Amino acid sequence: MKNFTYHNPTRILFGKGRIADLDDHVPDNARVLILYGGGSAERTGVLDQVRTALGERTITEFGGIEPNPRYATAMKAVDTARQNDVDFLLAVGGGSVIDATKFIAAAMYHDGDAWEILTSHGSVVGKAAPFGTVLTIPATGSEMNPGSVITNEEKGAKLAFMNAHCYPQFSVLDPEVTFTLPERQIANGVADAFVHIIEQYLTYPVDARVQDGFAETLLRTLIDLGPRALRDPKNYEVRANLMWTATLALNGLIGAGVPQDWSSHMIGHEITALNDTDHARTLAVVLPALMDDQRDRKTGKLLQYAANVWNINEGEDATRIDAAIAATRDFFETMGIETRLADYGVGEAGIDHIVSALKDHGMTEMGEHGAITPEDARRILNAAA
Ligand code: NZQ
Ligand code: ZN
Repeated sequence: MKNFTYHNPTRILFGKGRIADLDDHVPDNARVLILYGGGSAERTGVLDQVRTALGERTITEFGGIEPNPRYATAMKAVDTARQNDVDFLLAVGGGSVIDATKFIAAAMYHDGDAWEILTSHGSVVGKAAPFGTVLTIPATGSEMNPGSVITNEEKGAKLAFMNAHCYPQFSVLDPEVTFTLPERQIANGVADAFVHIIEQYLTYPVDARVQDGFAETLLRTLIDLGPRALRDPKNYEVRANLMWTATLALNGLIGAGVPQDWSSHMIGHEITALNDTDHARTLAVVLPALMDDQRDRKTGKLLQYAANVWNINEGEDATRIDAAIAATRDFFETMGIETRLADYGVGEAGIDHIVSALKDHGMTEMGEHGAITPEDARRILNAAA
């Protein structure tokens, strides 16, 4: 196992009715900016629950944060926050609203061009406004991590940043608020969490028993409950387990002390920057092709994955690995997610664009060995065509 420091300061308020407990966790005298997305939080009544819980506090609201949140929109929210002398942010939504809130929290105190926050991957952030979240879609893990991904349409870029000041102070996880999710978003959330786990697990063995065991349990839970969430959409226990799984998938716990490979995400972000494909769907396209392409570097973990996650124990190594990759692709497709680039309208010109965008964004040494280059990504994308 590698050396690591693990510290996660986010308090989790999990379960039915927990939105009411905002009153105990937002400072009494706070001037709060509530941030939300395109209207689902208003329609589903979640915003009303939040307003009620905040009681007499001074509240400003900012809606309209897009899926794959836009830099320009977030900068408008920074203006709103400054004009209203806001000192606490509350994100009500999914990964997009939470990511935008992290960026806004950092940009509120940033002198100069806030785009630097993204191009520096967060290293220029020295301070951020305190914020909490009310999560409405289990997917990204943003509710318990310090990462954020922002899209700049003008620059054709989708970039991530991370900074320890950008952990939420608390996150409310009420599985009941996920009952209103459309099937497409349930599927996206399951696939995104699945790939988060894979990218911290499917590298090379370092004898990290607990991290591997946790990762395998989380993967099996998604494989079992993802399809059940689609078949049985009002099952609270299914939703509760999925919600906690998605949080644990990317709160740093399973990634501590192990090598990581975020290349599916880095390549996937460029697909979204190109044509706004849902984040999770880009991952379902890239991952199976990447597993196949990188099978020589990942042999030990691919065999472990085959055995412990899919119960594939028979046959030659190559046969078992083929079967595990096929099972992964089938799982995404069972969730209603197509796994070929052509399904999302990306052809040869699109692949050229993605490869040059990876170069432009410095993604030249991806993977657990820093050995996946943009030209390797071209080969992977061609295999995913
Ligand atoms: O915008 P509204 O109207 O609220 O609708 C949203 C949106 O259209 C809807 N929705 C959310 N909760 C709902 C609901 N509809 C009905 N009922 C509810 N309870 O769902 C749609 C998708 O929301 P979004 O927030 O975009 O989804 P998700 O949580 O999948 O977030 C995706 C974003 O997170 C980034 C992605 O790149 C993408 O931009 N990621 C962030 C990460 C992080 N911070 O750690 C890691 C991830 O790998 C990922 O990159
Ligand atoms: Zn993701």
